Amino acid sequence: MPTVLITGASAGIGRETAVRLAERGHHVIATARNVQALEQIKRTTKGRVDTLAIDVTSQDSVDAASKEIATFTSQVDVLINNAAYALTGPLESVSDADLKAQFETNVFGPMRMIRTFLPQMRQRKSGRIINISSVVGRLALPFFGPYNATKHALEAMSDALRNELRPFGIRVVIIEPGAISTGFGEIERKGLEQHGEPGAPYAEQIAKVIAFQKDLHPNAAKPEVAARAIVHAVETEKPRARYVVPFLRNRALIALAEFLPTEASDALIQNMTGLRGTRTS
Ligand SMILES: NC(=O)c1ccc[n+]([C@@H]2O[C@H](COP(=O)([O-])OP(=O)(O)OC[C@H]3O[C@@H](n4cnc5c(N)ncnc54)[C@H](OP(=O)(O)O)[C@@H]3O)[C@@H](O)[C@H]2O)c1
Repeated sequence: MPTVLITGASAGIGRETAVRLAERGHHVIATARNVQALEQIKRTTKGRVDTLAIDVTSQDSVDAASKEIATFTSQVDVLINNAAYALTGPLESVSDADLKAQFETNVFGPMRMIRTFLPQMRQRKSGRIINISSVVGRLALPFFGPYNATKHALEAMSDALRNELRPFGIRVVIIEPGAISTGFGEIERKGLEQHGEPGAPYAEQIAKVIAFQKDLHPNAAKPEVAARAIVHAVETEKPRARYVVPFLRNRALIALAEFLPTEASDALIQNMTGLRGTRTS
């Protein structure tokens, strides 16, 4: 069974995926910053789970983990780039520092992991890289711009890499979850609330988008739905380039956003987020 390294395994989709993979007999290297949470997974999961601290924003942290991994396994067969967080708010109001930090985790983080673990895959002429993107890697929602921009970047890099690495027998897979019920939604909402104080320039619009976001998350799919797709992408002989999860709820949205004229898809997004018809007084 392959050795699978996953980032952001201490919570949510990453945690669920790590547990499922280990229970199915894979050797899982579960990583995140919160090592206590990882230890708890190791204690309660059947199967082989090794845990390591990795902060994907730090090359030193990734290098130290890579050295440690070399002491107990000869190869990482599958790399799952899952760690991320969402920076939300009006693009006008987001500072460069916050935007850079968002890209540091969600874009440079996966690239740092890929640069570290890809050379051994290339030499072996086998391996798999699974990047956890999002439906918002294919469309962009108002006030989710910073986060959406990182997932668009991750999609473009994954598409380029897929064709760069195909000759070396390495598959690159993108997973595009819609809303999934994890702690992620709360982080998104806190970001929005910071910019929604009465009198703030976008307060009225932000209130509507918070209502949309609050409706979205209680009806969200469970993390196991995303984990199931990731496990499939690990195990299947010929994975597809992209998996949208849950498919039915989200594929139509992506198709409409991509194929409608921009004005029509804007109207769709304005309707969906409750922004249609809002005017500043
Ligand atoms: N939930 C959704 O609705 C949704 C929808 C579409 C896509 N996604 C994507 O799915 C993936 C997982 O999201 P989730 O919902 O499971 O989120 P989550 O429950 O908030 O978990 C995020 C994970 O990322 C880790 N992380 C954050 N910053 C990190 C860093 N600098 N270095 C290492 N690990 C870091 C966290 O661990 P530590 O804090 O312990 O480091 C945690 O384990 C993300 O890529 C997200 O963009 C989620």
